[in-house]
Amino acid sequence: MKVTASILPFLTLASASCLRGTSLLPRSADGTVDINHYNYTNTGGPLNWYGLDKDNTACATGKHQSPIVIETDDIDYANSNSVHFHVPSAVEAKFENLGSGLEVVLTNGTLVTKAGSYKLAQFHFHTPSEHRINDEYYPMETHFVFENSAGAIAVIGFVFELSQFGYSTPLFDSVFAHIDDIAAPGTYTKTGHLDFSALTAHLNTHGIYQYEGSLTTPPCSESVVWYLSTEPLPLNVQSYNAVKHVLKFNARYTQNALGQDNLLEVAAKELN
Ligand SMILES: *[C@@H]1O[C@H](CO)[C@@H](O)[C@H](O)[C@H]1NC(C)=O
Ligand SMILES: *[C@@H]1O[C@H](CO)[C@@H](O)[C@H](O)[C@H]1NC(C)=O
Ligand SMILES: [Zn+2]
Repeated sequence: MKVTASILPFLTLASASCLRGTSLLPRSADGTVDINHYNYTNTGGPLNWYGLDKDNTACATGKHQSPIVIETDDIDYANSNSVHFHVPSAVEAKFENLGSGLEVVLTNGTLVTKAGSYKLAQFHFHTPSEHRINDEYYPMETHFVFENSAGAIAVIGFVFELSQFGYSTPLFDSVFAHIDDIAAPGTYTKTGHLDFSALTAHLNTHGIYQYEGSLTTPPCSESVVWYLSTEPLPLNVQSYNAVKHVLKFNARYTQNALGQDNLLEVAAKELN
């Protein structure tokens, strides 16, 4: 694991006691949220998202669907200094279990690219990773979803790699501080204090894969601009297991190469 000097001061050896230590009393989820009807199991899963809702046409027929297998020799890289990610610190934020995933509701944040300015809508997690890099998957991935005034979407993504030294990214330790409280789909809790400065430094000091794809969840809308950091974030085993215990499995299978027929259409033709 390469770790940049800028990020080192923010890394902690977060043990389970550190993770739980931010709150002396166990907190129960303080309400409910609507859960998504799609999921990753049986007929609720990605092979049948169009079957669940005919508005999800792009999931079954789109030719620029995400996630993809990123080939590092072929993919475009964003020009350095062309991606300006800014999320101010937040005292806390709502953290929801939507059944299909875990989402932090935080709208204070901007992304500025050559295409213009976008506003943060939320960020969420997938385990295992959705993107694969040269065919390799990672234990977890986070997506910061941004939208501009015209409704165009851009996502900043990071994959995580388990740290053999027990390192973690304190921002996410803080996000997951009360994760045990939202084990049940439809519940929510609060994150701890969120400081995005180390994450921003990480993004700014490494390469960024760039491509145009789709939402990886229904309705799988296309023309989504993806920016994925080339350098995984460190994740310790305790956090990984705690997240996996709640999140279970929520990665869509990798889609056909960009521009190629949707895999569902390819497979359906073979059945006919
Ligand atoms: C997944 O979704 C399907 C269809 O909505 C539902 O019948 C099933 O109970 C869900 N399974 C899980 C594990 O959420
Ligand atoms: C978002 O920004 C507004 C205006 O600067 C501020 O009042 C609010 O407290 C911020 N929200 C969070 C969660 O930090
Ligand atoms: Zn996502």
